[in-house]
Amino acid sequence: MRGVTAPALAANDPCWCGSGRRYKRCHRLADLDPERAAREAAQREAAARQAASLVRPGRVSPRRPVPAHIPRPSYALDPRGHDKLRESGAPKDADTIARMRRAGRAAAEVLAEVGAAVAPGVTTDELDRVVHEACLARGGYPSPLGYGGAVMPFPKSVCTSVNEVICHGIPDSTVLRDGDIVNCDVTIYLDGVHGDTNATFLVGEVDEASRALVEVTRECLDLGIAAVRPGGTVRDIGRAVQAHAEGKGYGVVRAFVGHGVGRAFHSPPQVHHYDHPGATQRLEPGMTFTVEPMITIGDHEHVMWDDGWTAVTRDRSRSAQFEHTLLVTDDGAEVLTKL
Ligand code: MF3
Ligand code: CO
Ligand code: CO
Repeated sequence: MRGVTAPALAANDPCWCGSGRRYKRCHRLADLDPERAAREAAQREAAARQAASLVRPGRVSPRRPVPAHIPRPSYALDPRGHDKLRESGAPKDADTIARMRRAGRAAAEVLAEVGAAVAPGVTTDELDRVVHEACLARGGYPSPLGYGGAVMPFPKSVCTSVNEVICHGIPDSTVLRDGDIVNCDVTIYLDGVHGDTNATFLVGEVDEASRALVEVTRECLDLGIAAVRPGGTVRDIGRAVQAHAEGKGYGVVRAFVGHGVGRAFHSPPQVHHYDHPGATQRLEPGMTFTVEPMITIGDHEHVMWDDGWTAVTRDRSRSAQFEHTLLVTDDGAEVLTKL
């Protein structure tokens, strides 16, 4: 004997739950296939959460002044920020390396300072103020300020890249919200050389998927650094980063690369974060360059905002990044941007 069940409803009948919606638009799927209904509801919820956390351009505050006694990099003297200085990727002399150790440590200190300022309710413009003042306090120039680009020179002193922003986000009136992730990319020009480092920080309580992304990205940087050895090639670095990221199901951004650094902000070699057959450049003691993998939860392709700087993932999935400036030593790599 069967129990008493509700009579089967036709697709266009009002739903039994009393919502007033048609049965087919309301509980029919949940009745027929509860697992699929739950899965789809979770996906809708995740998509809505992501949509609610998408970044939009804010207001950019006036340019912060740099006192006249602070030595400027060559591009900062050009109104369009174009650099006439070209530097090769050849090994540096001992004096340049000593100065790069100091600039690297200063960059690490400034990064720690801005990281400590990250919190819900703080604007990215406030992070810019912190970095700007921390650079000046050390007698250094904030390298991004006035650095040339396709549309305009970079107008601020640090790059702040929130959630789906891959890199080169411009600090503005955007307020950090609980659950965001934000990368702060600090470069200081001190003693005639640049130190370049970045990290991704969690804003308040961050969901598990984003925390896992940030952790894997940090591991990618560590593995990239561990792949550096004299006699090896730059290709070893990308191979190590890609194997780890893709092995865990993440995307590796290809459009932005690590770079030689020293007297010039950006110089050869290019450091791809994926296995690039053309990356045959041999590593020699005394070379200095960055490793700075950008890793995504979804699509690794990017689109640009029309400010010419802000790069976001095409699918708006979140992206994280970590960066260090390295010196190739006799038996591996020395991290110059450490505290
Ligand atoms: N610091 C970035 C890098 O890692 C470069 C930023 S260029 C800027 O190479 F103009 F956006 F600051
Ligand atoms: Co860099
Ligand atoms: Co950087």
